[in-house]
This record gives sequence, structure tokens and C-alpha cells, in this order.
Amino acid sequence: MVRIAVIGIGGWGKNHVRVLNELDALAAVCDANRERMQLYSKKYRVTGYESVDSMVKKEKLDGVTICTPASTHFAIASKVLGESLNTFVEKPMTTTSKDGESLIELAKKARRVLTVGFIERFNPPISDLKKMITEGRLGAPILLEFHRENRRGDVLDVGIVKDASVHDIDTARWLFGEEPRVVFARVGNVKSDNEDFAAIMLGFGEQRTAFITTNWVTPARVRTLEAVFENGVVNVDFVSQQTQVHEEDGTRMPKLVIQEPLMLELKEYLAAIDEKRQPLVRGEDGLMVTRIAEAVLASSHSGTPIFMKP
Ligand SMILES: NC(=O)c1ccc[n+]([C@@H]2O[C@H](COP(=O)([O-])OP(=O)(O)OC[C@H]3O[C@@H](n4cnc5c(N)ncnc54)[C@H](O)[C@@H]3O)[C@@H](O)[C@H]2O)c1
Repeated sequence: MVRIAVIGIGGWGKNHVRVLNELDALAAVCDANRERMQLYSKKYRVTGYESVDSMVKKEKLDGVTICTPASTHFAIASKVLGESLNTFVEKPMTTTSKDGESLIELAKKARRVLTVGFIERFNPPISDLKKMITEGRLGAPILLEFHRENRRGDVLDVGIVKDASVHDIDTARWLFGEEPRVVFARVGNVKSDNEDFAAIMLGFGEQRTAFITTNWVTPARVRTLEAVFENGVVNVDFVSQQTQVHEEDGTRMPKLVIQEPLMLELKEYLAAIDEKRQPLVRGEDGLMVTRIAEAVLASSHSGTPIFMKP
């Protein structure tokens, strides 16, 4: 049995706790907020800690998931990798690519799994789309157009690019199976101090292109992808998990089998630990996405395209 502790049990971490408990892998919880820690420690009957230091001293763990705010990821992940624990870091893996490079080195030295919460790879319509691309039934993919929009009032420690666009940046590079060569973007802020809207264009090999529109302004929850292929178009709704496939002879809607992406994502983390293998999402993916997010901000700042080093 793999023993995992969840660090950070806020809005999202409580889902990690619930799913790991269902998977019989929850060993402990840790949150700097004592009340929250006590609430979940009691609810799931596991020991709770207010600090990572005291938890790693007392518990015999195989790994952790880190669900604290982005600006704390590097310090916490460095500490637990230093203790030779397998490490799942929520997105963004780190707020700077320099920190991302250090984490990868630490994971290599410790020979432990380092993975990142790019959950959309586990969303069934996206994994099905990846299969469709690999099988080549609709021909080559040409354009990916993402919309991730909702109204958000609270202020985060990072802007929308590092918090939300990173999901679609990762999905675009995973679906195309390559890194973007050029990044052009405009970002701005309407309702908060950090940037809260971003329009990003990623240019891949030949003419393959991804458009990523993310904002915290639209007063409705929109999470969609339109993928244009040589011989068809696929529309995905990330929330309903519904897919539509449009081909010359008509439209079909594959049968919907709803599955919780977080359950699939955490199962993969546990399996990678158990089988001592690389996970589907690697530390290197976290690093590349942070590099691209940095290029997005640099492009918007300079008003010019940023050409990525191969
Ligand atoms: N994959 C997804 O779909 C998804 C969705 C939402 C959030 N997230 C990610 O999850 C992470 C957490 O987001 P959230 O919305 O749950 O934040 P949150 O602010 O609701 O919760 C963060 C929790 O971490 C605790 N914390 C902060 N510093 C700590 C420390 N040093 N040690 C222990 N506990 C500490 C806080 O007390 C709080 O309870 C972020 O990285 C975010 O990007 C991912």
C-alpha cells in the first residue's frame, strides 16, 4: 500500500484528501491553518500536522501531494524531495523556470517521482482526443482553440497565465506532441492587480497553432476546446465531458462515460510510485509549461513574438 500525505487542504486539496482516502492511500494531512487541519484529520481519521517539518519527522510516508498556493510550491517540494519522498505538485509546478530546473535535479538525485497537476490530460474527452490524434482517423491536427473563462473575485499569488492558462498550454503541447517554437500573447487586468485575462498564440511545427483564451471576467464557466483536423473538427466541453465529432458525412457524439479526472490522475501517481516508473506528467512538463508561461508574459510586455530555444 502506498502512503500519501496531502499538504494544503484548501479549496482544491480537500478533493485530494477525499480521493486518496477512497484509494486507501491517505496517510496524513498537513495544513498551516490549524482549524482546517483538525477538521480533515478528524473527518478522515488520519494524523494532522500544522507543519511539513513535523510531519516528515514523524510519519513514514511514500509521498505527498502539494496543494498549497503556487508561491509555496518550490520550498515545500524541495523539502520533501530532500527527504526522498515521491512528490505530486499542483500546477503551476513552480512560479519560475529556474526553480523548476532545481526540482527536477532534486528528483533525479532522490530517484523519486516528480509529477505536476495537469489534470486535463486525465479528463476522458482529452485522453480520447489524444487517442484520436495518435490513430490518425481525422488526419493531422492543425488548430486547437481553447476557452477557459469564469468570474473570479479573490486575489491569488500568481496571475491567470501561471494559474489557469498553464492547463491549456500543457494540453496543447501534449496533443501536438511537441513544444511550441514561437509564443505571442497579450495579457491585461480588468478586475484584479495581477493579470486576469490572456490571449495566447502558440506556433508549433509547420502550421500547427494553438489559441488559448483565458479570463476571470466572463460571468459564466466556459471550458471548451475546438480541435480542427485535416478531415474533421472535434468540440470538447471540459466540464460536461461531452465531445462532438464533425466529419463530412455528419456529426456524432461518442457515448458519455463520466469519470472523475482527479481520481484517474491520482491513480496514475500511485501506479508510478508502485511500479517505480516515470509518470504520464513529468517534472520536465512542469518546467516547459513554466518556461512557456514566462514567454507569454515577456511577449505581452514587449509586444513581440518570443522564439523558444529548441
Ligand atoms: N488541478 C486543478 O484543477 C486545480 C484546481 C484548483 C486549484 N489547483 C491548485 O491547487 C493549489 C491550491 O489551490 P487552492 O485553491 O486549494 O488554494 P487555497 O488557498 O484554497 O488552499 C491552500 C491551503 O494551503 C494551506 N497552506 C499554505 N501554505 C502552507 C504551508 N506552508 N504548509 C501547509 N499548508 C499551507 C493554506 O492554509 C490553505 O488551506 C494551487 O497550486 C492551485 O493552482 C488546482
